[in-house]
Amino acid sequence: MMPSQPRVLWAIVGCGGMARRHLRGFAMAAASALGNCELVAVCDVRRQNAELLAAEARELLGTSPAVHDDVDGMLDALQIDAVDVVTDLRSHHVVSARCLERGVHVLCEKPMAITIRACNKVIDAAASAGRMISIAENFPRFPAMRLAKALIRDGAIGTPRLVQEATVRGRDLLVQTQWRHHRVSGTVAFDSGVHNAAVMAALVGPVSSVYARTRVHEKIRRAASSTVADGRAASTWWSMHDNPGSVEATGEDAIYALMDFESGAVGQWTLDNAGHGEIAFSRRVFGSNGSIEVPPDRSGAPVRLHLDDGSIVADERLLDFAPSYRLSAFESLMFGGERVWRHDFDIAGADVRILAAQIHELSACIESGGRPEVDGHGARLQVAICLAALESGITNGPVRVSDVLDGTACRYQAGIDAAIGLAD
Ligand SMILES: NC(=O)c1ccc[n+]([C@@H]2O[C@H](COP(=O)([O-])OP(=O)(O)OC[C@H]3O[C@@H](n4cnc5c(N)ncnc54)[C@H](O)[C@@H]3O)[C@@H](O)[C@H]2O)c1
Repeated sequence: MMPSQPRVLWAIVGCGGMARRHLRGFAMAAASALGNCELVAVCDVRRQNAELLAAEARELLGTSPAVHDDVDGMLDALQIDAVDVVTDLRSHHVVSARCLERGVHVLCEKPMAITIRACNKVIDAAASAGRMISIAENFPRFPAMRLAKALIRDGAIGTPRLVQEATVRGRDLLVQTQWRHHRVSGTVAFDSGVHNAAVMAALVGPVSSVYARTRVHEKIRRAASSTVADGRAASTWWSMHDNPGSVEATGEDAIYALMDFESGAVGQWTLDNAGHGEIAFSRRVFGSNGSIEVPPDRSGAPVRLHLDDGSIVADERLLDFAPSYRLSAFESLMFGGERVWRHDFDIAGADVRILAAQIHELSACIESGGRPEVDGHGARLQVAICLAALESGITNGPVRVSDVLDGTACRYQAGIDAAIGLAD
């Protein structure tokens, strides 16, 4: 009998809505031919949430993770190599830094932390402890995004000049949880905007400045009666949260921005989570020879390459324009090939494969000494782009990302830092 592969021992901390998706990622990663992880514990300050997740784990994994409601108690009791932090984002830096200090590697959901000071706390903790921090920013990892990035890198559209990133949806409905509607706990504009920032930077490179208008359009958010944003029954979500009926919003729900990239490209960014009427999505990059359209996140639809002769390439010939495009070995296993240009997985199927890839990646780094794709420094840049928009929204002028990073541009964050105990 072949000896079983050594496994990195993991705990999930934070057992709310997103943790259920991470659990499915663990199940897929562990069962794969390259399986290198094992979930041994789940932890939530709301013990009931941890118990619910452990019950689901028994069904999905066939094993029972230990249930805890305190991170230190869990790390005292068990041998754990890595923690998957899936708490609400106001607590990311507290939980991540504590786990790193305790000598455990960390995979943390995006955004890395709620302010730059909070990000710095995590980066410092990782450096002092000699442990890795990896951020689970999933959007740039989907195959269509990796192909789009390679098309640009390989010159398919010439020099990128303009990126347009737009999402309009949401009306006055509560977005999954109450904390997404308060500035001090991470607004929906920040929580979603970090994804947009990561996508645009992945496609067109570093952002130098952002000039934005921000809004709190919907002052009252009401709970949707039948479904939550990702299509699951609201009752599942509310089993983890008390259904508030409605919430008085204090956090931004819209960002409208003009951006400068270091390359000279310009960005037009619309993120409106209070949009009424048409639900809109657009992700396009225009260059000196052509343009590309990237399909919605998690979609298996192909990228569309528009050329100056009027032709549109949206089939296997895309690969001819992107010779450098390759998925990692694990992603290839998940999506059925190294150079997939479309796939048939539904949204949940694509989602779970990327979550599995993120868990597998940090497990492999722990075993082999490699570096995760999005480390603390890379994730802090993604946070800084989004915070530059929110800072600009209150100063009404352009904000340099470098000023956000070095703490010069901090008016928006000052109140949050005070609320989380990171003020001077
Ligand atoms: N990448 C994506 O596509 C995606 C989608 C949804 C959510 N997310 C991210 O996942 C994270 C969680 O979001 P959610 O919607 O699941 O939130 P949630 O509020 O449903 O769940 C958070 C859980 O963390 C627990 N918690 C809070 N502080 C804790 C602590 N100190 N120790 C232990 N447990 C603690 C809460 O009790 C709750 O059960 C956020 O960072 C969010 O941005 C990512």
